[in-house]
Amino acid sequence: MLFLGWARGLAVNPLSTIAMNLFRNLFTSSIGRKILMAVSGLVLVGFVTGHLLASLQVFLAPDHINGYAHFLQGLGPVLWLVRIVLLVCVGIHLWAAVVLTLENKSARGSQPYGVHHWLRASIASRYMRMSGCVVLAFILYHLAHFTIGVAGTETFKSNLPHWTMQHDFCEFGIPLVSQGDEVYDVYSMVFLGFASPLVSLFYIVAVGCLSLHLWHGTDSIFQTLGLRNESWSRGLRRVVAIYCLVYFLANLAIPGAILTGIAKPAPGTAAAAKLVAHR
Ligand code: HEM
Repeated sequence: MLFLGWARGLAVNPLSTIAMNLFRNLFTSSIGRKILMAVSGLVLVGFVTGHLLASLQVFLAPDHINGYAHFLQGLGPVLWLVRIVLLVCVGIHLWAAVVLTLENKSARGSQPYGVHHWLRASIASRYMRMSGCVVLAFILYHLAHFTIGVAGTETFKSNLPHWTMQHDFCEFGIPLVSQGDEVYDVYSMVFLGFASPLVSLFYIVAVGCLSLHLWHGTDSIFQTLGLRNESWSRGLRRVVAIYCLVYFLANLAIPGAILTGIAKPAPGTAAAAKLVAHR
C-alpha cells in the first residue's frame, strides 16, 4: 500500500521523474557514459594527486609517513567509505571505457579501413586503452604489495618491527599521533620495497603509463564537461601537460632515489638495518 502510494506520487511528481530519467540516461546514452567517465576520472585524479603528496613524505623523517598512515588506518569506517567510493569510481570508469570502445568499434562497421592514419592524435590519446590496462595491473599489484602484503611479504609492514614515534605527528597544528606510540613502519616498507630493481622498474613504467593516461584523460574531462573554450583551450592544455610531467617526475623520484641510493633510510629504522647489511 505504502509502495503503491510512493509509486503513484513518483508518477505525478515531474521533478523526481526528470531526475530518474537523467540518472537512467547517464548509464544508457553515450554522452551520459562520457560524463560518468569524466566525473569518475576527476575523482581518481584527485586521489592520485593526494596520494602522491602523502607518499613524498618518505623523504622526510619516518615519523611523517608512519604517523600519517597510522592516522589513516585509525579512521576506520571513514577510510572504508573512501575506499568504497574509489572502488565505485574505478568500476564506473572501466565499465564506461569498455562500453564506449565497443560502441565505437560497432559504429565503424566490420570493414577495416583501407588507410589507417592518426589525425591530430597525441601519443597519449592513441594509447589510452593500453596505458589504462597497465595502470589497472599496477593497482592490483600495488594493493598486493603495500596494502594486503601478499607480494613482497617479508618486507610488508606487519612483518617489520613497529616504529616508535619520536615526536607528536601533527597536521595543520592538530596532534593526530602522539610521541611514543607504536605504529607500523610504512617508511621502511617503502624503502625495502623499492630496493628491488624489478619492483622499482615496474613502478616507474606504471607511473609513466599513468601520467600519459592522465594527460589525455584530464584534457578530455574538460572537453566532456564543456569547461574548455576557444580562448583558453591552449593555456589549459599546457597546464594539463605540465601537471602530468610534474606528476611523473615526482612519482619517479621515489623509486628512483631509493634504488640509486640517493635517498638513504633514516638511522634506527628497519630499512636502514637491512639495507646497510646488504649494500
Ligand atoms: C611511487 C609511488 C607510490 C608510493 C610510494 C605509494 C605508496 C603507498 C603505500 C605506502 C601504501 C600503503 C599505505 C598504508 O600502509 O597505510 C599505498 C596504498 C595505496 N596506493 Fe600507493 N603509492 C604509490 C603510487 C600509487 C599510485 C600511482 C596509485 C594509483 C594509481 C596508488 C594507489 C594506491 C591505493 C589505491 C592504495 C590503497 C589505499 C588504501 O589502503 O585504501 N599508489 N601506496
